[in-house]
Amino acid sequence: MVMSFNDLFRKKSATQALKQEDLPGEHVSLNKVLRVRDLTFFGIAAIIGAGSFSSMGDACFNGGPGVVFLFIMCAVACGFTAMCYAEFASRVPASGSAYTYAYVSFGELFAWIIGWALLMEYSIGNIYVAFSWSGYFTNLLDGVGVHMPAYLTTNYTSAHEAFLNNTTGEGMNAWNTAPLIGGLHIIFDLPAVCINAVITWLVYVGVKESRNFSNAMVITKLIIIALVIVVGLFYVDIENWTPFMPNGFGGVMKGVAAVFFAYIGFDAVSTLAEESENPQTDLPRGMINSLVICTVIYIILSFVLTGMVSYNKLGVSDPLAEVFNLKGVKWMLFTVSIAAVVAMTSVLLVFQMGQPRIWMSMSRDGLLPKRFSSIHPKYKTPAFSTIITGLVVGIPILFTDEKFVLDFTSIATLFAFALVCGGVLMLPRREESVSKLHKKFSLPYINGKWIIPAATLISFALVSYFIPGFITNNFNINKETAASTIPMLVFFVLCITMAILSFLKDLSLIPVLGLLSCSFLLTGMSASNWIWFFSWLAAGLVIYFAYSFKNSKLNNSSR
Ligand code: ALA
Repeated sequence: MVMSFNDLFRKKSATQALKQEDLPGEHVSLNKVLRVRDLTFFGIAAIIGAGSFSSMGDACFNGGPGVVFLFIMCAVACGFTAMCYAEFASRVPASGSAYTYAYVSFGELFAWIIGWALLMEYSIGNIYVAFSWSGYFTNLLDGVGVHMPAYLTTNYTSAHEAFLNNTTGEGMNAWNTAPLIGGLHIIFDLPAVCINAVITWLVYVGVKESRNFSNAMVITKLIIIALVIVVGLFYVDIENWTPFMPNGFGGVMKGVAAVFFAYIGFDAVSTLAEESENPQTDLPRGMINSLVICTVIYIILSFVLTGMVSYNKLGVSDPLAEVFNLKGVKWMLFTVSIAAVVAMTSVLLVFQMGQPRIWMSMSRDGLLPKRFSSIHPKYKTPAFSTIITGLVVGIPILFTDEKFVLDFTSIATLFAFALVCGGVLMLPRREESVSKLHKKFSLPYINGKWIIPAATLISFALVSYFIPGFITNNFNINKETAASTIPMLVFFVLCITMAILSFLKDLSLIPVLGLLSCSFLLTGMSASNWIWFFSWLAAGLVIYFAYSFKNSKLNNSSR
């Protein structure tokens, strides 16, 4: 078969994307049971979890109280992105989320890349959540007098690292006490493995059951987080807010993967298009509502947390419990651990539902084998994809660690978000009156012709004035600084390019701002994150060219 360059960018029309869900005899359709309230709950279920209960600790430790800026920056980037997702969801209300949107706007190769990147968000992200879940669950068990051996609550990588670095603590304890089989230390995080198995089963048996379970968990976690904030407020000492950025802006940016991770999840709502009663109106509302609610919670929570104790006490994996521990409010320890377990269970559930639905869409397009879109005749769920998701989350739990999966998830998700914003710029503009008539969500069009170039110039001028050398230093590329300077230089070039394009093509303001803000957050990622990410992309491209390109339905229909 001869491959032409244009074939790589063959697109699906929005009508094709929607039709595929209704092909007679092709598959059994999913249950349409979700409304705007359920979707908002789903969003919150996916957003508040390990980010706020675990990874926030390190971000506060590095950034100090100034981490609140990072929460605001991430909220802004996610806010613009959510509007872009909402625009797509109202135009192409098909399951598959950003993958389907990219297929319609950028073409097949980019769609594949996004589908591949989303695997990091949903599946690899869930590995981090499962580890954090296990940490809090073990705390709860300890609280009721059940003590699991360290080798069954620690991951192998952390224990091995503790052994190599001779660090005392949980990891070393696990290494020293683990049973040996043929010289291999049997160390794995048993609660993380078990919760993944339970969630996989729950998602397998059906969305309705999962929905009821998820709604109950969201209410519980919101009540307990409100309690954390109210009780915490009594212990806030404003002295703790000085210095506000103890390690400067660089310290704040160190927490970018952790804080951004806390926001991931609003986009999972868009994978539920096929189960929604009115996807064109309800999906956008569900996404935006959940993001706004969580942003308010995070900003208050980060102020309370950094106000309760000095930032340098927060570098732990359970910061919300630690603050109450340090203040001697023991009854809150148990409450926070329950909230954490509940919150993270709901994240696991929503992500584990999202992943199979993306694979289902990719399979219907021929980019993955047919089995990935098979739907269980009784439960009406994508059964095979659900089981594979369980394995993709469960197996790496045995040999990865938290930090690695956290960074990996955040970089891939930011990348996918930037592409979604870029994708909206590729869509033809639509008549306001048409969407008003059909009461669909419509992204407000604000002409960026003058605003983007002016904002770029003003930002460059302000940064040069307030942080002398910030821009010019990035041009001194050497071996030591390349990891931070190259992404920043790419970002500068992107800003200038978007300013010129906005001027020439009257680009829509919101998607451009979404693209730029997500790209800015990407500049905070470390060199090793980029290396892993590009290796991951390369592996994805090999699969695309070896299998998906040939089997694509668009390929077959064009021949
Ligand atoms: N935002 C989700 C969490 O924090 C992924 O767990």
